[in-house]
Amino acid sequence: MMSEPGFKTHLHKLQIRIDAALVDELAKTNWPANLKSAAEYSLMASGKRLRPVLVLLANEVCGGQQKDAIPAACAIEMIHTYSLIHDDLPSMDDDDFRRGRPTSHKVFGEALAILAGDCLLTMAFETIAAASNVDRVANSRQIAEQIRILAAAAGGAGMVGGQVLDLEAERGAFVAAESPGQTKENSKNHSCEQVSPAVDQMANPADPAAGRSVPSPTNSKTARNVSNQTAETRVVELSQIHKMKTGALIAGALELGAASADADEHSRKQLRHYGHCIGLAFQIADDLLDVTGDQSKLGKKPGRDADLGKLTYPGLLGIENSRAKAEQLVQEACDAVAVFGDRSRWLTELARFIVERDH
Ligand code: IPE
Ligand code: IPE
Ligand code: MG
Ligand code: MG
Ligand code: MG
Repeated sequence: MMSEPGFKTHLHKLQIRIDAALVDELAKTNWPANLKSAAEYSLMASGKRLRPVLVLLANEVCGGQQKDAIPAACAIEMIHTYSLIHDDLPSMDDDDFRRGRPTSHKVFGEALAILAGDCLLTMAFETIAAASNVDRVANSRQIAEQIRILAAAAGGAGMVGGQVLDLEAERGAFVAAESPGQTKENSKNHSCEQVSPAVDQMANPADPAAGRSVPSPTNSKTARNVSNQTAETRVVELSQIHKMKTGALIAGALELGAASADADEHSRKQLRHYGHCIGLAFQIADDLLDVTGDQSKLGKKPGRDADLGKLTYPGLLGIENSRAKAEQLVQEACDAVAVFGDRSRWLTELARFIVERDH
């Protein structure tokens, strides 16, 4: 389906607004010059700014004021950028290109790349904590809430935990069940845990024929992945990894936007559901682009998942089934925000963009 006219323009306007706010935040820092250069190098490279755009769109759909959402929008992009710098390190995915440039550790060395990531992580919380508006009581309550949302999305029960599981799965060690530290009790409060009907349906055994066009890596890491787990168990395992490593920050972005608008509980619930669906769809699309994408558009090297023996959707379900699952999730996401009526149109467009993108 084609994008609604005006969506690309609106997206571009929001991206420009976010870039300007990030430049302002960097300008306030008083760091050693090489640390600032390294942080700026990654933060100001050409990212899609998806997560901060989601913060602003959620704020808008809940009737908030954009200025109240800007600190959280910057903060989530800082955390996302730090996660990319660390994700690319030799001890993790060992990648050489990111956002159209050599990776941070290739340019600045491993130590400074790690420290630039650390600095972006801490700067994110400082950015939210330093936000101020006229209503000081509401402000301190909202700031505390936003810090809680961001920490939960970024930490061990969210992005960082998901990265650990991703690496364990690559090494053949992760067995689907509760993730470490995520019990049935505490998962009730966790933004990643909500399983949508579409996600549930992913637990279908892979059609072996569907994966034929996916590069079939033969390295030893991959061989270790082909254990005696059933295909069904492995799809459940993979959706848990994706919901944590990628879905948590994306759902967190929606929650932050809603919190910045002081939205009611029903709006938050619908936005959370939308976030869980597009978060998983986003990582399925990322896995697909790693198979079918083009480096000049992606800004990163495709084929790395196969090289590393990663557990991926196209690897388990094949390309066509993975696309169908992503589209099913997008439909469910759009249904979740239909309650907002006409105001949901940018969120609907963004959900479609997530699966139709080539970068
Ligand atoms: C890449 O995220 C990492 C994943 C979670 C798949 P993006 O595709 O949003 O990367 P940028 O921000 O546009 O560079
Ligand atoms: C990364 O997933 C998710 C993060 C938390 C950064 P990937 O490892 O698939 O992301 P890319 O493909 O390197 O961008
Ligand atoms: Mg990774
Ligand atoms: Mg990676
Ligand atoms: Mg990837």
